[in-house]
Amino acid sequence: MIRAVVLAAGKGTRMKSATPKVLHEVCGRPMLWYTIDALRRAGVEEIVVVTNDELQARISDFGVQGIVQREQLGTGHAVQVALRELPHRPGGRIVIAYGDMPLVHEEIFRGVLGSLESGNGEAPALAMVTVKMPLPSNFGRVLRRGNDVERIVEVRDASPAELAVDEMNAGIYAYREDALRDAVDRLRNDNAQQEYYLTDTIEDFVRGGKRVVPVMAGDHLHVLGINDRVELAHARKEMNKRLCAQYMRDGVTIVDPDATYLEPELQIGRDTIIYPNSTIGRLSEIGESCVIGPNARLSNAKLGDRVTIRESVILDSELGSDISVGPFAHLRGNTVLSDNVKIGNFVEVKNSKLADGVKASHLTYLGDAEIGEDTNIGAGTITCNYDGKNKNKTVIGRNVSIGSNTSLVAPVTLGDGALTGASAVVTKDVPAGERVVGNPARPLPKK
Ligand code: UD1
Ligand code: MG
Repeated sequence: MIRAVVLAAGKGTRMKSATPKVLHEVCGRPMLWYTIDALRRAGVEEIVVVTNDELQARISDFGVQGIVQREQLGTGHAVQVALRELPHRPGGRIVIAYGDMPLVHEEIFRGVLGSLESGNGEAPALAMVTVKMPLPSNFGRVLRRGNDVERIVEVRDASPAELAVDEMNAGIYAYREDALRDAVDRLRNDNAQQEYYLTDTIEDFVRGGKRVVPVMAGDHLHVLGINDRVELAHARKEMNKRLCAQYMRDGVTIVDPDATYLEPELQIGRDTIIYPNSTIGRLSEIGESCVIGPNARLSNAKLGDRVTIRESVILDSELGSDISVGPFAHLRGNTVLSDNVKIGNFVEVKNSKLADGVKASHLTYLGDAEIGEDTNIGAGTITCNYDGKNKNKTVIGRNVSIGSNTSLVAPVTLGDGALTGASAVVTKDVPAGERVVGNPARPLPKK
């Protein structure tokens, strides 16, 4: 079994935020989520995060164990704190990574774990990821002896000659647990930052005749560490690009990936087209051949096939197939639309169920309503669902015709085939087939 320790207790001072750094979001997920996700994909079963108090309070969101490092005395100290809590598994492997690298990829973890096992000649005690990067850089420099790593020098401790080295320590390591436990207790803090550096275990290994092998990462973006909000925006852009490419390869047309904002773990069916300035998040599921946007916002929205959403907002709602919404509509709060519904411009629907074929084409508010098949809601209809204390229900049957500007004062029920005249104020239930007009609405005399 492979264990991972993710270091995330640092204060993240440069974010200038009340929120712990690794909880800042990249494409709808805290950045820590991405490291954990990549580790899981790489087959790591046990993941432990070194936290501070604020992060510890949220760690159960991630389904991993948190170990609090009360004082942040450096990356080596963070590992000491973790290892003291974790039972020793002789012969085990431990991956160590930092929690602020949202662009990290599972392949990097697979690669470093693989190198720990292979390494020509004597088995290495540590395999670590290095990366070529344009200078200047704040990353620790990798000093080599032949093909192996001899030492890492942090920027603040480096000589000018060492600073000129362009191979960096990415901050991703696969250790043999026995060797790590042995070395970590010998770390000292006699450096410029007076911190216990995890990277000093390397020099310790080399001195003890153990091998440290580098694994060069192809793309330095994958190991980009986020320290401030400028880097956060950069990471978001990169991640969004990656996500758009993934959905496009699965058969979705994205007209402008630079102006389309997606999240991981969405379901989007083939031949759906997404027009610019659209945001789709929170586990939304979209069927095939839908048209989303321009200017759509979907969050926790479930859509069937052939649904068109133009310039509209859909939150926490479920839509069937062959539906058209917008422009400028707002669906929210557990709204459920059956197939063939039409929601036109300036219509808000909250916590309502609309059956097959219902139309509300213009300027309407439907709240806490249940509407039967093929009913037509005229322009300007309002369900007056709130009496100042309670939210009340409006129940409308099938094939009902609601006239323009009708006010439906809830709780109220209209039977199948009923009709209201323009500007009716309906305060009492209307039986099936009855036609009502006026304020308050009264039945039309029978002809
Ligand atoms: C570290 C590496 C450096 C590498 C760089 C890559 C060390 C000494 N240096 O430098 O070689 O190039 O990352 O990004 O490891 N943390 C704790 N507890 C602590 C201190 C830090 O949990 O006491 C966590 C932080 O939350 C962060 C990670 O460890 O997620 C890295 O710490 P940071 O101080 O940012 O290290 P760097 O100076 O970036
Ligand atoms: Mg850092």
